[in-house]
Amino acid sequence: MGFRSSKVVIVGVGNVGATTAYSLANQQLCEELVLIDVNRDKAVAEALDIQQSAYFMERNMKVRAGDYADCADADMVVISASAPMPKDSDDRLQMLKPSMGLVRGIVDSVMESGFAGILLLVSNPVDVMTYYAWRLSGLPSNQVIGSGTNLDTARLCTRLAQMYDLDARSVQAYVIGEHGDSEVVSWASATIGGKSVTDVLADNASRTKGTTKDDLLKSTIQAGWDIFSRKGNTCYGIASSVTAIARSILNDDNAIMPVSVRLAGQYGVDGVFLSVPTILDHTGAKEIVEIRLAPDEEAAFKRSVEVLRSQYELVDS
Ligand code: 2OP
Repeated sequence: MGFRSSKVVIVGVGNVGATTAYSLANQQLCEELVLIDVNRDKAVAEALDIQQSAYFMERNMKVRAGDYADCADADMVVISASAPMPKDSDDRLQMLKPSMGLVRGIVDSVMESGFAGILLLVSNPVDVMTYYAWRLSGLPSNQVIGSGTNLDTARLCTRLAQMYDLDARSVQAYVIGEHGDSEVVSWASATIGGKSVTDVLADNASRTKGTTKDDLLKSTIQAGWDIFSRKGNTCYGIASSVTAIARSILNDDNAIMPVSVRLAGQYGVDGVFLSVPTILDHTGAKEIVEIRLAPDEEAAFKRSVEVLRSQYELVDS
């Protein structure tokens, strides 16, 4: 398989950033991977460790610790820096203030290098941080994307697949809106093997065991916290989610994923970043897909929009 030449910089190599770095290398998505962290030794150590793993892979990749000058010719910069989330935290929006300080410094430094590629935000609250990074960077909105509800979608599809002993990739169901408590499932467009999830739930009562759509939404929202409360972070799911987004962009795949993008009239929304199914190619967010929403789903989506728009006052102040 011919590899496309590409350079990726990851800023913030804590649990999420380091796991994302390894995941990108493991899928051979770039020939140059540069790690930046406020803790230089951490960046050096992670880069050395991943470089040694590259020996066992099928691409001659260069992995090293670097600095913001390395962003000048990067195709993509992943921002995964995060302030420590309080152990008793139960809402990603609580990270707004500490994350704003981090993201502002990072985006300013990235843009000073002359960077003109794709900014991929992971730092929570990711939807608001994606808006903030777009505003600070001055990049076209299609080049500033957040990991959004791509992971939530995987969590929902995994849960549905487990209920019926299926491969999660045979479930097509989108979680849209905020990556957080106000997220929404588009049941109107959800299918398993081409059959509507609504019918699957109804036709398989014995295996569904009375699980309702509301139970499924609640367990999807809770899924990250079930991990965080036990080990103090999540990393593998988010890293693989970010890698899938990066893969479609770096390989120009045109895959459709629910990621945090700036709506400009789509879904009747203007000027807010949140997750909707989006075609991802080498330009970043190539096109927003407007899926059909049931009236209650549309109302819930609009509530999610307002939750995020209300945060902009803090960000813009
Ligand atoms: C999660 O839900 C880190 O917000 C991310 O796992």
